[in-house]
Amino acid sequence: EMDAFISDLISKMTLEEKIGQLDLQSGIMAVTGSQVNHQYEDWVAEGKVGSVFNNFTYERAYNLQKRAVEESRLGIPIIIGHDIIHGHKTIFPQSIGEVASWDLELAEMGARIAAKEATADGIMWTFAPMADLVRDPRWGRVSEAPGEDPFLATKMSVARVQGFQGDNLSDTDTMLATAKHMVGYGLSQAGRDYGTTDVSDYELWSSQMPMFKAMVDAGIATVMTSFNDLNGIPATGSHYLLTEVLRDKWGFEGFVVTDYTAVNELVPHGYARDDKHAAEIAFNAGADMDMVGKSYMDYMAELVAEGRVDEEKIDHSVRLILEMKWRLGLFEDPYRYFDKDRAETDILTEEHLELARDAARKSSVLLSNNGALPLNLEEINSIALLGPLADSKRDMIGNWAAAGDRRTQPVSIKEGLEARLGKDVKIHTAGRHGGATYAHLHDADETSSHIGIRSVARDEIGKPAHKRNMEQAIKAAKKADVIVLAIGEEQRMSGEAASRVEITLPGNQRELMEELKKLGKPMVGVVMSGRPNDLSWEYENLDAILHAWYPGTSGGHAIADLLVGDYNPSGKLPMTFPRSVGQIPIYYNMKNTGRPYDADNENQRQEHYKSRYDDSPNTPLFAFGHGLSYTTFDYSDITLSSDTLKMEDDELSVSVTVTNSGDFAGEEVVQLYTRQLVGSRTRPVKELKGFQKIHFEKGESKDVTFTLTAEDLSFYRGDMTWGPEASNFHVFVGTASDNVQKAEFKLVD
Ligand code: IFM
Repeated sequence: EMDAFISDLISKMTLEEKIGQLDLQSGIMAVTGSQVNHQYEDWVAEGKVGSVFNNFTYERAYNLQKRAVEESRLGIPIIIGHDIIHGHKTIFPQSIGEVASWDLELAEMGARIAAKEATADGIMWTFAPMADLVRDPRWGRVSEAPGEDPFLATKMSVARVQGFQGDNLSDTDTMLATAKHMVGYGLSQAGRDYGTTDVSDYELWSSQMPMFKAMVDAGIATVMTSFNDLNGIPATGSHYLLTEVLRDKWGFEGFVVTDYTAVNELVPHGYARDDKHAAEIAFNAGADMDMVGKSYMDYMAELVAEGRVDEEKIDHSVRLILEMKWRLGLFEDPYRYFDKDRAETDILTEEHLELARDAARKSSVLLSNNGALPLNLEEINSIALLGPLADSKRDMIGNWAAAGDRRTQPVSIKEGLEARLGKDVKIHTAGRHGGATYAHLHDADETSSHIGIRSVARDEIGKPAHKRNMEQAIKAAKKADVIVLAIGEEQRMSGEAASRVEITLPGNQRELMEELKKLGKPMVGVVMSGRPNDLSWEYENLDAILHAWYPGTSGGHAIADLLVGDYNPSGKLPMTFPRSVGQIPIYYNMKNTGRPYDADNENQRQEHYKSRYDDSPNTPLFAFGHGLSYTTFDYSDITLSSDTLKMEDDELSVSVTVTNSGDFAGEEVVQLYTRQLVGSRTRPVKELKGFQKIHFEKGESKDVTFTLTAEDLSFYRGDMTWGPEASNFHVFVGTASDNVQKAEFKLVD
């Protein structure tokens, strides 16, 4: 039925109308490039544009759809998209924070609620999940990413696709999802956004491709191309990526959309002579839909006339796009996503806010603690809540926070603590900046971009106010039993086009902490940031550090729950925290090298010619998978069902007993890693192959079992075929990538 309907429709379309379906235009609310086309609404009415984003709210979306349906010749409905990244109006933790929960149900549920709210606001397509594997905290987009490990990133990305798309795209609370960015963007050189990537096939297929392949297998509706040049060919013009891999090898059946003006950018990349040439390259490579740049709109008809683009290929891309419109149910009822009642009842509900609070609790990571946390409310009468994020609402929801309101809705840390502590504990503060401000890199004005760019008032730039702030902070601290420092980065310091060369905490935050330290009181840091920072100083000098990423709309409540111990922290790092910017890239699944260095080995410490730094340990400050709890978990030795695993039809059970030996109930993420000792290509020193997040009552012990098969140990071998290889293996189970028990087995033919 669908095929016949679409064939019939295509047969009625002029070439111009077909090209219109290949064009995506942006409204004016969240532009991320210099090009904006203000005529987009008229183009919709003329059938020159088939989809629009950044144009939500029930009324706006409805009115635009009406123009498409009533004014364009064939009345083809438009798809309305938006970047629904970690929530629509109820904002969940920043994406990398949500990954720190290691909770797949949570990730699916977060996307589900985002879809429910967004569709109630007339949006039926999201540009998420972002699945770029990342290793460089200088890159601002690590905040949107699923971390540094392909196994965890794949599971999280697939869970999100399921959350957004559900089982049936025509349900009015599900939406089209987008796997982005295809591919390699996460390895931008030097962490500078939009930078070049140059990566071997082995690395590309091992670390960047698995998430995309898995999302295609899970039925993702659309794929977005990437801005970067990958191995000499910009991804948006890569026939290899967009056709040979995505279509021919993986069988992707949805449509490919470019990133914002990425087609035109083939010109500055030096891969196309002009926009027309760029359109020819990108379209023939397999990019079905052009985002904003207009080069398809302007040149595609000429390219067809000149025989440089085949009209049948255009028909095929149009078909893929119309199929998605059909699957969304738009041909049945183009207005089915515009329901005034839903817009009023389904957004920012109590239930959503409560789930967002729970998500924020589960995403926070306790990085260090000498016993200062949880706050002992029996002994504490007053808290000094200091630092620039102490009473910030706008930073709570992080970057790429879709339609999230920054001014009123988010619960700040101060508000959260006040709500929890009531009159029992006095909270002393130090004015708007909490005693410190950030150093701003851009000359920026207060505007309300939803992605947070330029959200800073001029009066916060520079230092004149600092001295007075600092004095206020010290005064407040002197009155208190404990100092809680809300520190980190302002939300706009990560996200798109927000790269940094320094990853220590910006501005005069250190200065403030050094002054406060002199008072000799317990100091607890609550860090909010979209990237792993260098927290070496904080680790040495603070009594505890809780990392809350950007925790979302209900974040202040969640942080209060964690600080006082109503909730026991259970998050684990999805990305390594370096000791310094000089260690980057640093990630847990590195190779061993020919001259590995083990700092625990006395003999090796004596040797000079080893793979190490002269001025820093090799190890990170906090490893991948690290995250403390208010309780302690003891791990037994590993028990294996056998010391050999056969390639065919065999399974190996790996078991440990985990005991909650401390004073709190809580959740633990039990992690399993393997290492192949010899291979036809060198293998990482550890690779995550399984994890289970388990609740333990106080004193409770549980046997935790993982099952491994040869498929789990497969990789891209010397000849680049995928499969396992006979070898000796190490298997590790533990609480963090650097805190594990070890056993050995053999994989045999
Ligand atoms: O979805 C985003 C993409 O991740 C970066 N450039 C802009 C797109 C649309 O807003």
